[in-house]
Amino acid sequence: MSTARDKIREKLFAVEVTDVQHYTDRLFTLRTTRPGTFRFEAGEFTMIGLDTGQEIIQRAYSMTNASYDEELSFLSIKVQDGAFTSRLQYIEVGQEMLVGKKPTGTLTLDAVAPGRNLYLFSTGTGIAPFMSLIQEPEIYNRYERIILNHTCRLQAELVFDHYLREGIHEHPLIGEEAAQQLLYYPTVTREDYYRTGRITTHMDDGSLWGELGLDAMDPEKDRAMVCGGPEMLDALVNELTSRGFDAGDRGEAGGYAIEKAFVG
Ligand SMILES: Cc1cc2nc3c(=O)[nH]c(=O)nc-3n(C[C@H](O)[C@H](O)[C@H](O)COP(=O)(O)OP(=O)(O)OC[C@H]3O[C@@H](n4cnc5c(N)ncnc54)[C@H](O)[C@@H]3O)c2cc1C
Ligand SMILES: NC(=O)c1ccc[n+]([C@@H]2O[C@H](COP(=O)([O-])OP(=O)(O)OC[C@H]3O[C@@H](n4cnc5c(N)ncnc54)[C@H](OP(=O)(O)O)[C@@H]3O)[C@@H](O)[C@H]2O)c1
Repeated sequence: MSTARDKIREKLFAVEVTDVQHYTDRLFTLRTTRPGTFRFEAGEFTMIGLDTGQEIIQRAYSMTNASYDEELSFLSIKVQDGAFTSRLQYIEVGQEMLVGKKPTGTLTLDAVAPGRNLYLFSTGTGIAPFMSLIQEPEIYNRYERIILNHTCRLQAELVFDHYLREGIHEHPLIGEEAAQQLLYYPTVTREDYYRTGRITTHMDDGSLWGELGLDAMDPEKDRAMVCGGPEMLDALVNELTSRGFDAGDRGEAGGYAIEKAFVG
């Protein structure tokens, strides 16, 4: 007789962990095998899960890998008393993880209209969907420049820093485009760094554009995507709305897109 646990497992692929890297006491990355039939669009998320033997615990996660990569990768927080990540943080290479069969989400390219520059604003693990998006060739055809902002509390939390400054330029498919068109704009809020402060401050005082040598964001020409905690999302949506940007959705491209799973 099939149990409730079996029924949940039917909606999930069993994959094997192939790599785990710990960066800080709050952040780590995971790589897993990819089932041949698992398809997703860059920017989407899916459920990932662990089977404890008694129950299956699942949480929403964005894939950080490109849609065409052979393996799946994820960036994860460690919440010490979190039901999921208090366990997931101890996962090791060779162990089983579960991956939802139905990825979804609204941070996809079809939610934003084509335009001049595309701004990707992220805090903490919110950079995850953007790591996938910036490895898609299409993004470089649609926009002249892609500006990737990552705001973290600490410098050590800028976990893709080295890849974004150098590694991505060696990427066989999009390396040359990234070198020409991708502008990385990290900022740190709780310790000294060469650039500090919240991104909203950098927009209000114009330093975001000043430092990159760009014209200020223009709702007629530029687009944005936002991913981070609820307060940051609110602040950025207010900021973009007051600058004249309208919200987009899948199939209804607009001036900016957020992950709707985060809203009410
Ligand atoms: C659409 C969507 C996509 C997501 N993608 C990712 C992802 O790619 N990587 C990821 O690590 N998490 C992601 N999350 C959050 C994730 O689903 C879980 O909340 C996280 O794994 C913690 O689970 P938990 O059971 O340990 O703690 P929970 O009980 O879920 O969370 C406890 C508290 O920890 C804080 N918290 C939870 N997640 C984070 C986070 N990522 N960064 C900072 N603080 C956090 C919040 O204050 C939360 O109330 C996503 C959530 C949604 C809705
Ligand atoms: N697909 C998705 O939707 C998806 C994918 C991955 C992650 N996520 C979500 O992303 C979130 C990441 O957590 P987090 O961003 O809270 O991580 P965090 O590690 O706590 O980082 C917070 C950073 O955001 C800044 N910040 C906070 N409030 C702000 C505001 N109002 N305006 C501008 N900047 C602000 C903070 O600055 P201070 O130091 O000044 O406070 C800090 O630098 C989680 O909620 C996670 O679930 C979503």
